[in-house]
Amino acid sequence: MNIPFFELKRQAKILKDEILKELEKIIDSCEFSLGSAVEEFERNFANYLNVKYVIGLNNGTSALHLAMRALDIKEGDEVILPSLTFIATAWCVSYVGAKPVFVDVDEETWQISPEDVKKKITKNTKAIIGVHLYGQPFDIKKIMDIAKEYNLHLIEDCAQAHGAEYYNKKVGTFGIINTFSFYPTKNLGSYGEAGAISTNDENIANRIKILRNQGQIKKYEHIEIGYNMRMEGFQGAVLNVKLKYLDKWNNRRIEIANRYLNEIKNPKIAFQKLVEGSKGVYHLFVIKVKDRDKFVSHLEKFKIGYAFHYPKPIHLQKAYSFLGYKEGSLPITEELTKTTISIPIFPELTDEEVDYIIKALNEY
Ligand SMILES: Cc1ncc(COP(=O)(O)O)c(C=O)c1O
Repeated sequence: MNIPFFELKRQAKILKDEILKELEKIIDSCEFSLGSAVEEFERNFANYLNVKYVIGLNNGTSALHLAMRALDIKEGDEVILPSLTFIATAWCVSYVGAKPVFVDVDEETWQISPEDVKKKITKNTKAIIGVHLYGQPFDIKKIMDIAKEYNLHLIEDCAQAHGAEYYNKKVGTFGIINTFSFYPTKNLGSYGEAGAISTNDENIANRIKILRNQGQIKKYEHIEIGYNMRMEGFQGAVLNVKLKYLDKWNNRRIEIANRYLNEIKNPKIAFQKLVEGSKGVYHLFVIKVKDRDKFVSHLEKFKIGYAFHYPKPIHLQKAYSFLGYKEGSLPITEELTKTTISIPIFPELTDEEVDYIIKALNEY
C-alpha cells in the first residue's frame, strides 16, 4: 500500500459534476466577484454556525487582517497569539503596525496556554488571537475570562476548525470577530483562495464589508483606506455545494481519529488531548513520537505520507527575528516542533488504509 498524506483528487472526482453545474450558473450570470452565490454562502454559513453575520473574503489571511483593521489595532498596540500556528495568524498584527506577542501552548492540549497569556499582558495589549489548532478548540472559557478581565478583544482563528464545537456551540461564535480560511485543503475548501469572517456585531460586519470593497460606502465614495478582498463568485458557488457535505466529512474525520486514538497502542506515541467540552474536527491528526527521525524512516518504509505542523515556531522565524526571541523562550512549543508529526487523516481515506496505518504505527 502507498498512502498519501492528503489527496484532494479523491473528493474532487466525486463532486465534479455537481460543482460544474454551479460554476456554469456563475458563467451565465457573470457574477464573478461577490454576487448572489457569495451572498447565499454568507447566509448558509451564518446559519450553519448560528451567528448573525458572515462576510466572504478572498482568503483567511485577509480575514485576519480585516479583523485587526475593524478593531482599530495599530502601531503601539500588542496582540497576544500562540507561536504554534500557521504564520498568517501573526502577519495580521504586523500588517497594521502592531506588535505580535507570542505565547506558549499547553503541554497536553497543545493549544494556547491561558497561564502564559496572563503573564504576557501589558498595558499595551489590545487583543488575543486564539487558534483552534489542528481543528480542535482551544480553551475558550479560560481565554474568554481573561479577555473580559483585562478588557481585551478575542479573535478566534478558525481556519482549521470549520464545524468544531465547544459545549455544543460552533467555534467562530465566541470572539468579537472570528476568521476562516477556505484554502482548498481545509475541512471546507474552495477551488482557489477564499476566506470569511463571522461576527454577531452589526457595526463590525458593516465595517468589514466596506474594508473588503476598497473602503467604499457606495460606488466611488471611499470613506477609509480599504482593500480588494472580495470573495469570487466561483468560490461562493463551490462553497455552497461543499457546505452541505461538511458535517458528513467531519464525522468521517472524527471516526478515523477515534480509531487512531483507540487502536494505536504504542508507548512511543502520544496524542493531543482535547480541551474539556470540546468537539474537534481533526483537520490534522498530529502525534508526538519518540525519536522522530526513526519514526519518519518507519513511515517511509511503510509508504505512509506525513507532514510537520509546524517544523519551526513563528517566534524563531527569520521574519520575526527583530522581536528578539531566542531558543528557549517558549519551551513547550519548541519541543513540540521537534517531536510531533502529522499522519494521514481525510474523509476519503478507506477503512483498509486506516487499518494499515494503525498496524504500521503499532509496529513502531
Ligand atoms: C491557522 C491558520 N490561520 C490562517 C491561515 C491563512 O489562511 P489562507 O491560507 O486562506 O490565507 C491558515 C491557513 O492557511 C491557517 O491554518
